[in-house]
Amino acid sequence: MLRISINPSQPEESAVKQAANIIKNGGLVAFPTETVYGLGANALNQTAVDKIYAAKGRPKDNPLIWHVDNAKTLLPYVDFAACETIFPNFFTLIERLFEKSVTLVLPVLEKMSTENPKTLAVRVPQNAIAKALIAESSCIIAAPSANTSGKPSPTNANHVAQDLSDKIDMLLDGGATQKGLESTVISFCQLDNEKVTVLKTPQLLRPGAATLETINDIFHLTNQNPISLTDFSTTKKPLAPGMKYRHYSPNTPLILLIGTQTAVTEKINTMPKNIAVFRTNNLKLEKVAQTLFSTLRELDEQNFAKIVVEGVPETGLGLAIMNRLKKAATEVIIL
Ligand code: TXA
Ligand code: MG
Repeated sequence: MLRISINPSQPEESAVKQAANIIKNGGLVAFPTETVYGLGANALNQTAVDKIYAAKGRPKDNPLIWHVDNAKTLLPYVDFAACETIFPNFFTLIERLFEKSVTLVLPVLEKMSTENPKTLAVRVPQNAIAKALIAESSCIIAAPSANTSGKPSPTNANHVAQDLSDKIDMLLDGGATQKGLESTVISFCQLDNEKVTVLKTPQLLRPGAATLETINDIFHLTNQNPISLTDFSTTKKPLAPGMKYRHYSPNTPLILLIGTQTAVTEKINTMPKNIAVFRTNNLKLEKVAQTLFSTLRELDEQNFAKIVVEGVPETGLGLAIMNRLKKAATEVIIL
């Protein structure tokens, strides 16, 4: 794997060109987005896309997000007419959502061949490196997070190298990602008996870097219906295919403690010595989000018997943070 450092605010043209050539030739390039690192390939080259699944050990039934530089790129693929019947300002709405690191699940045009999926998850990365790479490759880039399936998502280049160094062609090292959590996934459609219909109330599939408050504000500003909050604790059927797998797990058992600051402190004091503790109560949620996955990976490399993490309130970014922690936890203790 070729690893190149690249300036996150003004990406060097030579590095971008080199990476784009690999993508154009059917290879795999890991690159930073504003959320987490992605593992990219030309979305319309099936052989290249297959290589992503092999490198990550990703189950085949878990589709990939298409990364584009602009919503207009989607015109040949997405059934915008169907969306506009329900959302009159659909283009404005989705452009605003894309700016906030939201991934949208949209209906695919019926005229596309029957082998194609009926829905597509799409997003517009907001950082300079990803934007430059997409523009220079002049293709749509399919990219899941650049980790081995089941591991915490990579938020710096070392994480990618740890998981994938012998399995990919190139790694663009643009330093730590800005947000540290994956994009928020919301769906504008549902699939019933192979037929796709547009939802009047779009649904949250995965909480993430964009908070529900931000998303609902955008819906209200464009006079649309707000999205419905899915109660993840009671939903039996996984909403996004990727959510049925145990995710984001370090190898060391992880205990999530939920309770007041005092109760958490008391509980930690009763625990054996060889544990790592990640206290969150004094940190801003943005900071917890930014450092969560890297902290889990760092602690996992040391020889702790357990990793203990203090939960956060499930509002704002706390919803996504707790979603990842609950999935990573081997035990949740409510105090
Ligand atoms: O921030 C992010 O979203 C990062 C960066 C690299 O863009 N990407 C990412 O991709 O997290 P991945 O593959 O790790 O997660 C994508 C999620 C999965 O849960 C997948 O099941 C869901 O999106 N998804 C993809 N296509 C879908 C579709 N057509 N319908 C419903 N869910 C879909
Ligand atoms: Mg992932």
